[in-house]
This record gives sequence, structure tokens and C-alpha cells, in this order.
Amino acid sequence: MANPSLLILAGDGIGPEVMAEVRKIIDWFGTKGTPFDVEEGLIGGCSYDVHGVPLSDATLERAQAVDAVLLGAVGGPKYDGVEYALRPEAGLLRIRKEMDLYANLRPAQCFEALADFSSLKHEIVSGLDIMIVRELTSGIYFGEPRGIQTDNEGGRVGINTQRYTTNEIRRVARSAFEMARRRGNRVCSMEKANVMESGVLWREEVTWIHQNEYPDVALSHMYADNGAMQLVRNPKQFDVIVTDNLFGDLLSDAAAMLTGSLGMLPSASLGAPMENGRPKALYEPVHGSAPDIAGQGKANPIACILSFAMALRYSFDMGEAATKLERAVETVLADGHRTADLMGEAGGTPISTSEMGDAILKALAA
Ligand code: IPM
Ligand code: MG
Repeated sequence: MANPSLLILAGDGIGPEVMAEVRKIIDWFGTKGTPFDVEEGLIGGCSYDVHGVPLSDATLERAQAVDAVLLGAVGGPKYDGVEYALRPEAGLLRIRKEMDLYANLRPAQCFEALADFSSLKHEIVSGLDIMIVRELTSGIYFGEPRGIQTDNEGGRVGINTQRYTTNEIRRVARSAFEMARRRGNRVCSMEKANVMESGVLWREEVTWIHQNEYPDVALSHMYADNGAMQLVRNPKQFDVIVTDNLFGDLLSDAAAMLTGSLGMLPSASLGAPMENGRPKALYEPVHGSAPDIAGQGKANPIACILSFAMALRYSFDMGEAATKLERAVETVLADGHRTADLMGEAGGTPISTSEMGDAILKALAA
């Protein structure tokens, strides 16, 4: 059988630095009997610099062909003046859309060693383990009409459209219910059915899937604004949250901070199964390109490393290896290793990106 294949798109800012640490882990698995075929490509600003577009057709074709894509981060102030469709973020949105990666899994887990770093009280976040399933290829991010137009009086109007079809809602709802069955068996669906028709449809379709296909899973509904409040009031009430593209973007950033640092959160974006049975898949840290600290060895590689752990679990059926890698991260944190983002008020000397990567590798190999 062919080796599992990966396309690495490290991207901009701290992307290449954190991905270099993942590379060490991939190579380690290679020496332990799981060699990956790894290719690299460009996405975001670095692609724009070379090709004039944030994602070339050739790179997209490679992404469609491999078993999984590993992405670092895109964007930076250098591209602020670039036209909207050519900005680094447009490359990210295009690869999600073209690969049809509709289910974005964003786990928020609080490592015990970091429970004091959260902006919330220890007892509120200690033991936290929730999974946000964010719809990723539709909604207001992609709905038409969109644009900035001139109205009859010569004023300007900015337009975006929230739009969801039955099928788009049902397929991501299925992903959430499947996920719940592997975890705590509870799904909370969030929308704004009190003000948006798309929210009414969302609620009806999620309910339909529940009644017809997953009656064994407990389902609740919440307005997304209340959901945001509940996430910071009592986040442990949730198991799986399923929500649309925009609400999921906001709620997952809030959930990220519960865990202590945005530098800790991985994500998986999954689509329909390919011919080989594996889902179309892209794995990326939730954090961005952090241009302010790029190139200084300050970035925390854990989110990117944990994203690779998700790849092991969801693309390569290597759940045990994934758990082992997650345990290695836990051990390293428990031993007190901290990158700059995890220093907190106590202070001390942070370790560098590559020192963190090395420490995790050492714990993995132990
Ligand atoms: C995310 C990011 C992206 C999004 C940006 C970079 C386009 O915030 O993945 O959460 O809005 O989806
Ligand atoms: Mg976001």
C-alpha cells in the first residue's frame, strides 16, 4: 500500500516556524514505521508574492490529490492594501470551499497545567473538553449577493448574504451527531432563529436529522448570543456545539481563550469521503499568522502539533498514535515547559518554538 500522503502549506507569519516542529514529529513517525510522503506548497501572502494569487490552481490540484493537507497560517500587514479577492485570507477560503470541507472541528480542551492561564477561574475551566463543529463552506462567508455597491442617492452599501440550504445544514448536523456519539452524546445547536429565517431553517433541519437519524443523542438549541454568554459563564455544560460559519468563527475564538491561549487550539476541516474512504481533510491551528512575533522563535507550536494529532486520528485511523502525541504535549506542559504565550503573570524565561518542539518529541519518544 502507498504511504499516506501529506501536503504542507506552511503559509505566512509564524506558519513556517510552527510547521517546522510538526515536520520533526512527522519524521519521527517515519522512523517508527509510518513514513509519510510529504510535499510542500504555498498559500496566502507567500503565494501571492510568487504567483500573484493566494492559492494557485496547481497547489489546489495537489491539495485535492493528497490524503491530508496541513496548513500553518495566512496573512500579514504587508497585504492590507491588496484587493479583497487576492488577499491571503481569500486563499484559505478558496481551499476550504473547493475541497468542500464543510465540517470544521474545533476542540477546546483545557490542559490541567494551564487551567490557571485562562482568563476565567480555575474551577470553571478545569477539565473542560468541548468540541465546536462549525459549518465552513457556506453561510454569510460565501452567500450571494455580496459586495460594496452604490445606492440610488449615491451613498455606498456593503452587502453580505446569510444563506443556507437544507443539505448544507443536514450534512454538518450529521457530523456533529457522529462526533457526539464518540464523546458525551450531547449536541447543542446554536443560531439566531429569533431574528433570522436562515436560523429557523437551521433549527428545523437539525431537529429533523436528530429525530430521523440520531434520536439516541441528546439535542438542545440555543440562540448564539446566549451561547456566547454560556460559554464564558459555564462552559463545561457543553459537549458538542454545532453552529454556522460566522457564529462558529466567533464562538470558537471565545472557546479558545477558555483554554489559556490561542496557541493551544488545533482544528480539522473535513469533507466527504474520497475514493480511498478517507475524508477530504485539512488540518490547521486556530491561531493566525501572528506577524508581530513572526521569525523570532517565540511562537507556540502546540496548536499546529495537535492539529497533526487530529490528522492521525481522523485521516489515518491512528487514534492511538494521536493520543500518544497529545499525552506528550500534556507531559511537557506538566513539566513546566512554556513558550512566551504561556508565561502568565508569574513570569520566568520562556522557551523557544523549537525547544518546545524538541521537548514534545522527547516526551513522545520516551
Ligand atoms: C478562522 C479565521 C478565518 C475565518 C480567517 C483567517 C479568514 O478567523 O479560521 O477562524 O474567518 O474563518
Ligand atoms: Mg476565526
